[in-house]
Amino acid sequence: ADAVPFHGAHQAGITTPAQDRLHFVAFDVITKDRGRLVAMLQEWTAAAARMTAGRDAGVFGAVGGVPEAPPDDTGEALGLPPSQLTVTVGFGPTLFRDAQGRDRFGIADQRPPALADLPHFAGDALRPEISGGDLCVQACANDPQVAVHAIRNLARIGMGVVSVRWSQLGFGRTSSTSREQATPRNLFGFKDGTANLKAEDAALLREQLWAQPGDGPDWMTGGSYAVTRKIRMQIETWDRSSLAEQEQIVGRTKGSGAPLGRSDEFDEPDLAARADDGQPVIAETSHVRLAHPTLNNGARLLRRGYNFVDGSDGLGRLDAGLFFIAYQRDPRRQFVPIQTQLSRHDAMNEYLRHVSSALFACPPGVTDAGDHWGRALF
Ligand code: HEM
Repeated sequence: ADAVPFHGAHQAGITTPAQDRLHFVAFDVITKDRGRLVAMLQEWTAAAARMTAGRDAGVFGAVGGVPEAPPDDTGEALGLPPSQLTVTVGFGPTLFRDAQGRDRFGIADQRPPALADLPHFAGDALRPEISGGDLCVQACANDPQVAVHAIRNLARIGMGVVSVRWSQLGFGRTSSTSREQATPRNLFGFKDGTANLKAEDAALLREQLWAQPGDGPDWMTGGSYAVTRKIRMQIETWDRSSLAEQEQIVGRTKGSGAPLGRSDEFDEPDLAARADDGQPVIAETSHVRLAHPTLNNGARLLRRGYNFVDGSDGLGRLDAGLFFIAYQRDPRRQFVPIQTQLSRHDAMNEYLRHVSSALFACPPGVTDAGDHWGRALF
């Protein structure tokens, strides 16, 4: 029960009930050799299948090999259960063409139109060294050691083929992706994930989450596009704002998470409601109004983010925030319009700074032991 099946039509780690911990990494491919890249993806697939089942990354394992060679597992997960580890892989725009427009691996014509570079958004303060990447791996687990172990072993296997560009640890999932789960809270103290797309919403998942036949190149059918944004939250400033102001900014109550003017967490927000003074009950600049599907042409996201605290910033503040991850069928119709609207009008922006951004095409699932990540692409 503790292991999440690795094989399937879709990659695990998307609609899988969000685990508590994250280790996310973006890699640059440092080889020009397509064969070596494909061989690494094959090795990664085999290692991920083993690790998600709670086994060592390699066949000999941490201690079963010859003493003269480095072990084919690093060892720190020995004795730990699978902890619902999922390993999800994605391909970034730069894998298809580099900054000079060169077709690096003969796959430029396979680049999905939906994998279009994200535009600049108002207020973006992106740091290039922690943005983008040719490949990503999202490891989620209920034990941070298990998530780190997975990433570390894939990086070890990839030596000479890929190098780590940036990586992010996260805790306290900030979304629920299944109705079985209670809604967790983000570092502003608000429930996060109430109106998220959930595993049970089969029709909506087809419409909003999974790439469908004809959307783009066939290799992406059944896949999904991930947008990541590292969003620094000015929590010290937030903590000095009044409860009423915090609730107006979000558009929900802090206690139950109900939309303002309603009583239950899962009530639909009444965006038309007016108070006695004629003002909207849910402010025009509130986050839930601006992010709501009715203001975004019906667009929704499957949010799967994590809190982070990366120590402190040397100025007496915690370096804290939300590592936002959202999966969707087409970022051009989902993340981009929603974030355009939020970046211009969201009252929450006063407390936020987007410091990293990335976009990846996450292929469909690995179907069985004979399949591997990227098989249909290369
Ligand atoms: C809803 C917080 C960034 C999209 C919410 C809710 C909270 C929240 C508390 C209400 C509960 C819920 O339905 O989950 C935050 C914080 C952010 C952030 C603290 C930054 C640190 C973003 C970004 C996007 C986004 C960057 C997308 C561009 C949404 C959507 C909803 C939502 C689509 C659901 C709206 C609805 O259908 O009612 N967020 N959010 N959020 N957020 Fe965010």
